Amino acid sequence: MSSTHQAAVGHDAPTKNADLLSWVTRCARMTQPDRIVWCDGSEAEKKRLTEQAVKEGILIPLNQEKRPGCYLHRSNPNDVARVEHLTFICTPNKTDAGPTNNWMDPEQAYTKLGLLFDGSMKGRTLYVVPYAMGPLGGPSTKIGVELTDSIYVVLNMRIMTRMGKPALDMLGDSEDFNRGLHSTGDVNPDRRYICHFPQDNTIWSFGSGYGGNVLLGKKCLALRIGSYLGREEGWLAEHMLILGVTDPKGQTTYVAAAFPSACGKTNFAMMIPPKSYQGWKVETVGDDIAWMRVGPDGRLYAINPEAGYFGVVPGTNTKTNPNAMATIAKDTLFTNVAMTADGDVWWEGKDGEVPEELVDWQGRPWKKGCPEKAAHPNSRFTAPMTNNPALSPKANDPQGVPISAIIFGGRRSNTVPLVLQAFNWTHGVFLGATMGSETTAAATGKVGVVRRDPMAMLPFCGYHMGDYLQHWLDMQKSITHLPKIFQVNWFRQDKNGKYLWPGYGENMRVLEWIVNRVHGRVPTQETLLGWVPRQGDIPIQGLDLPPEAIAEATSIKADEWKSELKSQEVFFEQLGTKAPEALMLQRKLLISRLGS
Ligand code: GTP
Ligand code: MN
Ligand code: MN
Repeated sequence: MSSTHQAAVGHDAPTKNADLLSWVTRCARMTQPDRIVWCDGSEAEKKRLTEQAVKEGILIPLNQEKRPGCYLHRSNPNDVARVEHLTFICTPNKTDAGPTNNWMDPEQAYTKLGLLFDGSMKGRTLYVVPYAMGPLGGPSTKIGVELTDSIYVVLNMRIMTRMGKPALDMLGDSEDFNRGLHSTGDVNPDRRYICHFPQDNTIWSFGSGYGGNVLLGKKCLALRIGSYLGREEGWLAEHMLILGVTDPKGQTTYVAAAFPSACGKTNFAMMIPPKSYQGWKVETVGDDIAWMRVGPDGRLYAINPEAGYFGVVPGTNTKTNPNAMATIAKDTLFTNVAMTADGDVWWEGKDGEVPEELVDWQGRPWKKGCPEKAAHPNSRFTAPMTNNPALSPKANDPQGVPISAIIFGGRRSNTVPLVLQAFNWTHGVFLGATMGSETTAAATGKVGVVRRDPMAMLPFCGYHMGDYLQHWLDMQKSITHLPKIFQVNWFRQDKNGKYLWPGYGENMRVLEWIVNRVHGRVPTQETLLGWVPRQGDIPIQGLDLPPEAIAEATSIKADEWKSELKSQEVFFEQLGTKAPEALMLQRKLLISRLGS
C-alpha cells in the first residue's frame, strides 16, 4: 500500500474507530484506489460530487427550470435490474442458505471475489460511505459502511439513507457495523457477483452499477442480512411498505404490506383516497422495507430503515400516483428513463401526449410509434422521502409505528380474489408463505411467469426459507396484540386481459374494509379461503365497473385452486423437513375444505 493510502486512512479519517480504520485499510490494500474520500453527507460534498459526475458523463443534467436538482443516469444496458442468479448467500453450511438461495462457500467466495477486487480501483477513488438504516439513535437502527468506487452509488446512498457524519458519530468506537464493499468493475455480467456473508455482517458486490445490486443498505443489508439478524435477535426484516390511514374521526391505523417487486408497494404507500373518501388520509411511513419488533406494550412496531424512495418510474402519472409525481419534481436522480428535446424526462405511462421525438434510455434517438420502449421497464427514480407531500409525521420516529394489519399481495391474473382476511395468525402466515406472483422487469429474466414468492421475500431472505417461515410463526408468542393478516390481489384480469379492479387510489375501498375489520366494525363472511367482505361491504359507487367485474374479481374457482394447490405443494416439498409443521397442517385443512 502506498503512503497516500496510509495518510488517507490513518490520519485524515474523521474517525478513530479502530475496526473501521483497519477494515478500510485492508480493502484499500486489495482494491488499490488512487484516492480515499470519507463522505460526510454535507451539501458541499453533494455539490462537488454532482459536478464531478456531470463532468465524467455519469449524470446528465436535466432541464433545471422544469426539474430543479434533477439528473439522469444511463446504466450499462446489460445492467438494468437485480441479478438473482448472481446473488449468493455465503454461509459456512449450505443448508443455512436454504433451497431458495444461491449458495457459495464463504472461503471460496472471498477468494473468488478477492481476485476480482484485486486492483479494481486503480486510477479510481474509493469513497467511504457511512450510513444509518433507520432514524438516527433509534433502538432498531443499524449502521453500515459502504466502500465504493462509484459516485452514482454515493449520490444515491445520500438520498436513500442517513449518510455521512451523523452515522459515523452514531457508530462511535463500536465494531457493530455492516461492512459493504462495492466495485463497479468492468460491468461484465460474467464477472458480476452479489455476495452476502451474514455471519460476518459483510457484503461484497462486484461488477454492477444497478441500484438493487449496489446500494448495499437496501436489499443487501436491510433485507438479506437484516432478515438473518432479525431471526437471531427476534425481529422481522420485511419487503413491506408502511402506511398510516386516518379516518374522518381522526383515528390513524398503521398497516404494513408485502407485495413483490414492481407489484404496487410504492403506489399503495403514497395513495390518495378517491373523492368519495372525504376526510380520509393516507400517509407514507415507508415504501419498500419494514423492520418490525415487539414494543414494550406487546404490539408490533415498524420502522422504515430508508430515507428515500427508489421507485419504479413507468406507469407513474398524476392519475395513478400524484404524490410520486410531486416527489420527483425536484432533487431526484432518474435512472434509465427517456429524455425529451427540452431536457425533461419521459416514460411509458406518463401524463400527456407521447412526444414526437425522444432520446431513449440508451441515449439513442427515438420516434413516436417506435415499437421499442423509450424508457426501460425497470427505470427508477431516487428521491428523498421529504419530497413526498404525504410523508407521515412518524416517518422519522425512532420508535416506529404500531402495526394493526399486515397485507400480503401478489400479481395474479387469476385464482386469487381481491381481498380476504386470514382466520388467525398461523393461517395468515400460511397465506404469506403461499404467495405467488407473476414475474416483473425488476429482476433479470422472463416476465409474466407465476412463481412462488413467500411474503415477497424470495429474492431477499438471507437464510433458509423454512426457518424464516418458522420464525414468523414463532413471533406470535411474543406479540400480545397480533396484527390481523390479509391477502389482496389488485391484478386479476378478465378473459380479454383487462384488469377487473381499477386499483391505485381506488384501493382505498379495500383498505377501508381492512381498517373496519381491524377495529371490529363490520361483520364478515366465511369462505373456504378466509373471511371476505359481504356483498356491498366494498363500496363500488362511482366506479366505472360492470357489476360482474366485482363478482369476478372476488370469485373463488375450484379448478384454479386445484393447480394452485399443486404449485404450493412443489414449494413446500422444496423446503423438505424444514417446512413448518403448522403450515403443513394449514395446507391439509385447506385441501379438505376444497375437497380436492
Ligand atoms: P419495488 O419498488 O420494485 O419493490 O416495487 P413496488 O412494489 O413498489 O411497485 P410499484 O408501486 O412501483 O408498482 C409497480 C407497477 O405496478 C407500476 O407500473 C404501477 O403502475 C403498477 N401498479 C401499482 N399499483 C397498481 C394497482 O393497484 N393496479 C394496477 N393495475 N397496477 C398497479
Ligand atoms: Mn422492493
Ligand atoms: Mn417501490
